[in-house]
Amino acid sequence: MKEYRVMDNVYLFNSYIDAIDLSFNQFLVLTPIPMLIHTGAIDRTEVLLPKIKEVLGSRPLEYVFISHFESDECGGLSLLKNYYPEIKAVCSQITARQLMGFGITTNIAVVNPQDKMKIGDSLFEFISYPSEMHLWEGLMVFETNQGILYSSDIFTRTGKIQKPMEDSKIYEEIQNINLQKVPSQEALERLKKDISALRLKYLMPGHGPCLKIF
Ligand SMILES: [Fe+2]
Ligand SMILES: [Fe+2]
Repeated sequence: MKEYRVMDNVYLFNSYIDAIDLSFNQFLVLTPIPMLIHTGAIDRTEVLLPKIKEVLGSRPLEYVFISHFESDECGGLSLLKNYYPEIKAVCSQITARQLMGFGITTNIAVVNPQDKMKIGDSLFEFISYPSEMHLWEGLMVFETNQGILYSSDIFTRTGKIQKPMEDSKIYEEIQNINLQKVPSQEALERLKKDISALRLKYLMPGHGPCLKIF
């Protein structure tokens, strides 16, 4: 797992898995109240925990954002809760229902698309994201002050990352979201429209490098 400080208040933890030629990202956002974006699968969370502790010291990790119910986004939640019992998982209703089915019922903050949440100095807005499992409603989260979209499985790249942050054009990025990513024309169009309405400066996806928009 490699660690990069991609912004003053954002750490990226990136692990490359050779067998599937894909890297996995977790972000630690200091708002200054700390929020983790994705737990990673449980083996990643194990490696991640000491790194979080190194950044936070004795301060607790207060929030974890779960975009949708898949192991790389929330597989390590139980482990994380062992270390930070008061941590609040921020997720959609459907994700909360899935977590309940795995016995995780406490400290879950359910949010809906277009909800806003102020954490410390940051203002987060939640965007509906038709995630891959049955196109269930997942979420992306947009930090409005810095213009950062944590975009989960959209705007991802395969392969090893060469640099933690690359330049990109938002028009091309949005154009490249296709039916393979969101296999419903209607849901795809809605997602493109929602993302186009944001004042984006950075894309921080769950896989591959972060993208600086110009
Ligand atoms: Fe996913
Ligand atoms: Fe993912």
